[in-house]
Amino acid sequence: MDIQPSEMGLVARVAHLSKRYGAGDHGVVALDDVSVGIRRGQFTAIMGPSGSGKSTLMHIMAGLDTPSDGRAWIGDDEITGLGDVQLTRIRRRLGFVFQAFNLVPTLDVRGNILLPFELGGVRPTAEDERRIDDVIAALGLSERVSHRPHELSGGQQQRVAIARALASNPSVIFADEPTGALDTRTGREVLRLLRSAVDSSGQSIAMVTHDPVAASHADRILFLADGRIVADQGAMTAEQISAAMLRLESGAAAGAAASAAARPVSTGAHA
Ligand SMILES: Nc1ncnc2c1ncn2[C@@H]1O[C@H](COP(=O)(O)OP(=O)(O)OP(=O)(O)O)[C@@H](O)[C@H]1O
Ligand SMILES: [Mg+2]
Repeated sequence: MDIQPSEMGLVARVAHLSKRYGAGDHGVVALDDVSVGIRRGQFTAIMGPSGSGKSTLMHIMAGLDTPSDGRAWIGDDEITGLGDVQLTRIRRRLGFVFQAFNLVPTLDVRGNILLPFELGGVRPTAEDERRIDDVIAALGLSERVSHRPHELSGGQQQRVAIARALASNPSVIFADEPTGALDTRTGREVLRLLRSAVDSSGQSIAMVTHDPVAASHADRILFLADGRIVADQGAMTAEQISAAMLRLESGAAAGAAASAAARPVSTGAHA
């Protein structure tokens, strides 16, 4: 009998994942034989230089893009090769915050935040309403609930996308630079909300970030360079993360991985 990813404590997993764009001399290898799992009940940060494949990895893990080679699972469900209908059903278990915030222009803030319920045909419970109101207040959106996305700043739109990802209390949240467009105070509030989603609600989070302070809130940090995972670390301080990133960005990927690693580099399929 196969061992299921959930029995390994993984909420999402990829094995021997590769992604190529284009062909021949003009082709780009965005991901090169990546095997990794996102652990249940953990806050995982994904870091790496621009173009290292972070968004591509996150999109494939969340079932929003397909691999060139390799396989992907969400919980026990293999998503590789699934059709749109099945994928959409599985994606309802996830919360997303992506670089393009994917807000619906014709819906106001509250409508956008409630979209996961709308799409799932579910009425929010009183508890859902309470949680959503708390998130809206914590993110400083209370004065904006009836505004449409084009009436909001970039950072406000980003906060709406974060509120939407938290609204339905999903077991897994994928976030691509959720604090990228935010000022320091709001960014910290977002990290506090994400941390408390893990600590109080047992949710699992995978977050791409360039910010060492943001990554220092994580339980685990994966470092990507040139489409490969070059280090897989436990919690680190912002200073340690900055140093590791500097070494990666200076191009010494292998050396950076080795010296960043307090523990041996692990890129095995078992997370
Ligand atoms: N649709 C596409 N067509 C062609 N190449 C692409 C496409 N999407 C991404 N790439 C390339 O794949 C590589 C990885 O891109 P990706 O967006 O995953 O990087 P990233 O680590 O998220 O970078 P950033 O930190 O700048 O967001 C890059 O070289 C990028 O140019
Ligand atoms: Mg990206």
